[in-house]
Amino acid sequence: MSQKTGIQKEVTLTHLNTLRLHSVAPVFINITSESQLRDLDKNGFFNDQLPFVLGGGSNILLSDRLSVPVLKMSISGVEIIEDDDKSVLIKAGAGENWHELVAYAVKKGLGGIENLALIPGTVGAAPIQNIGAYGVEIENLFSSLEVYDLKSKTFRSFNTEECKFGYRDSIFKRELKGQMVVTSVTLRLTKVNHVIHDSYFALKEYLNQYKIQNPGIEDIYHAVIAIRQSKLPDPAEIGNAGSFFKNPVIEKKQYDELRSQWEKIPGYPDGTGWVKVPAAWLIEKAGWKGLRLGNVGTYESQALVIVNHGGATGKEVLDFSKKIQQAVSELFGIDLIPEVNIIQ
Ligand code: EPU
Repeated sequence: MSQKTGIQKEVTLTHLNTLRLHSVAPVFINITSESQLRDLDKNGFFNDQLPFVLGGGSNILLSDRLSVPVLKMSISGVEIIEDDDKSVLIKAGAGENWHELVAYAVKKGLGGIENLALIPGTVGAAPIQNIGAYGVEIENLFSSLEVYDLKSKTFRSFNTEECKFGYRDSIFKRELKGQMVVTSVTLRLTKVNHVIHDSYFALKEYLNQYKIQNPGIEDIYHAVIAIRQSKLPDPAEIGNAGSFFKNPVIEKKQYDELRSQWEKIPGYPDGTGWVKVPAAWLIEKAGWKGLRLGNVGTYESQALVIVNHGGATGKEVLDFSKKIQQAVSELFGIDLIPEVNIIQ
């Protein structure tokens, strides 16, 4: 490793991606401060090519050998930067672990983040894909984020509107893809009068089962953890990247047509003529739930999660995902779009 720049060569990324794919980064730098980014830029490091920014590696599919340098974001620190009677602004470094931030907030009695417990990954990656679970998305508690802009070579800040959040989407996945390195994220959390989001079906079911009436933020936090642990595979035990595809959003007309053939097809209308259909249901009905081909398969209790049973390559996972796309397209005429980022 070069002492001055922190540049490492030929680094294996197997333990830095939750699908546990073997992959090599020809150039790798662990980023622990904002100034390190600026110094690298001053030295011309970003002149030839934009790097790949790696967070917790929980939403990526890596090829055997990457063609671009990797920046591993390890900027740490959690700080309450504003505190009034009702709420706080909490700022966290991009390299902080997301779930640890959730656990810290809940322990302090801060609300708004509890539905997002146990989502793997880092704080910096969370807004990029507008992480969401059990009726809450990060945009609901988001205040701002800071980035190093590789094009203008300056530090900038983005508010909620500027992030252009959508379903598992933001401006950082579209217009500004690859150009911004998130260094910190600031969230607004409530101290009192917490808004409880308990209407998601699985959550309601859990709270009913344990006879929890008027749940508080801690109840929701524990319920979400229990539900996730029962349905989703733990990346520490079996390689996976959570939901592999987005839930498709189709026109109501197409949904009604499908419904005449598939009476039980679930659908969540968004009120503007579009209906979100669970990709997991489509995959299951196409016969791919729990199926395994070689080292790759879908998880037995959640068809939307592709798992690495051990030793799979990125190409094997990609080929497997394409077979699922084909099966769902043939049966339902719906194209599934990967939620996971495919990195070459
Ligand atoms: N379902 C099936 N078969 C299955 C699993 C689910 O038919 O194997 C059907 C059921 O009808 C169920 C519905 O799909 O009611 C929805 O399933 P679930 O509640 O498990 O949620 P999901 O839509 O599959 C989304 C997110 C998850 C998030 C959960 C809970 C996406 C792409 N995924 O999954 O996020 O945890 O809701 O809010 O939106 C992730 O993004 O990596 C992720 C895990």
